[in-house]
Amino acid sequence: MKTLQITGYGKIENNLAFAEVNIPKVGNNDILIEIHAASVNPIDYKIVEGALKRAIKLTFPTPIGYDVSGIVIKKGEDVTDFELNDEVFARVPRERNGTFAEYIAVDSSVVAKKPNNLNFVEAASIPLVGLTTIQVFEKANMKSGDKVLIHAGSGGIGTFAIQYAKSKGAYVYTTTSTKNVDWIKNLGADRVIDYKKENYLDIVKDIDIVYDTLGKNYTIDAFKVIKSGGKVISIIGELDDETAKELELNSFIRFLLSLKRMRITKQAKKKSAMYKFVLMQPNASQLDVITVLIEKQSLKPIIDKVFDLDKAIDALLYLKEGRAKGKVVIKMK
Ligand SMILES: NC(=O)c1ccc[n+]([C@@H]2O[C@H](COP(=O)([O-])OP(=O)(O)OC[C@H]3O[C@@H](n4cnc5c(N)ncnc54)[C@H](OP(=O)(O)O)[C@@H]3O)[C@@H](O)[C@H]2O)c1
Repeated sequence: MKTLQITGYGKIENNLAFAEVNIPKVGNNDILIEIHAASVNPIDYKIVEGALKRAIKLTFPTPIGYDVSGIVIKKGEDVTDFELNDEVFARVPRERNGTFAEYIAVDSSVVAKKPNNLNFVEAASIPLVGLTTIQVFEKANMKSGDKVLIHAGSGGIGTFAIQYAKSKGAYVYTTTSTKNVDWIKNLGADRVIDYKKENYLDIVKDIDIVYDTLGKNYTIDAFKVIKSGGKVISIIGELDDETAKELELNSFIRFLLSLKRMRITKQAKKKSAMYKFVLMQPNASQLDVITVLIEKQSLKPIIDKVFDLDKAIDALLYLKEGRAKGKVVIKMK
């Protein structure tokens, strides 16, 4: 089968190559998915560039891609929850990633049936951003009526997060640039802040939760806009100690991280606030929750661009520009 592989760390255009490899073997608990579509996420190009070297150890060549949709064409003897020809979607685990390919074998426990009202391209756009968002708002214990700031409302995460937070009854502030303001309003955000013309720090005050998708000064400044006792949940800022332990980082690295986190810790203390980093995990039951929302039409996928598999490197380069309006998807079938 055809697959895209990472051949080394560095520039995207120099460190990826297509290869012909065997179709993966199916273990007792696995299903073999004929891949119809796979979406691209920033983690894919960050891995190639070596940004996650410390957390994710690679030996080259290694596969790439986490989000998938497709059809079950084979199943292990212990798989009871799927049948051949089921249409499925998943965010596959790191140890078995490689969705920029024609087939993938994956433990059936991380896979869910795809929403009936989505095609494969739309379904592949959902798992990673959807699971991240559910896990972020669970960590924040978001309740109806909470005021939430979602940075980068026009990105892959933002377009899902705005709709999800609205479906849970939150009041949503979001940031984006001028060209995106109108269509982001149509996604349901209550206050769309055009960061080219307005400073969100003048507008957002005393809110319950910041969903930090931008990091750096945005993480620190989040403490200026939350109320006392508010919550800052980051998916890109500094690791908190709980997450560092989950990643099995040694005590010396954890000590270094605590130094890097010092400004955040100080700001959090001043505001009696919570700071957490969320590293999303595959989760089939949360995919089922998303499916219910999509089938009720409380949520819809937002697709920016679709690339054929042989243009997968272009898809990564496009996402890396950082201007995507929703999701970028690779189509195999
Ligand atoms: N920890 C985890 O488990 C986890 C999971 C998923 C994602 N992430 C991380 O979360 C980040 C966001 O992911 P994504 O998929 O949403 O990325 P993305 O789709 O590439 O984001 C692109 C969007 O960011 C917006 N943007 C860029 N700079 C901005 C700014 N200063 N203010 C407001 N909007 C801005 C752009 O809008 P404009 O063109 O209008 O600027 C564009 O629409 C990535 O760094 C990713 O690695 C982490």
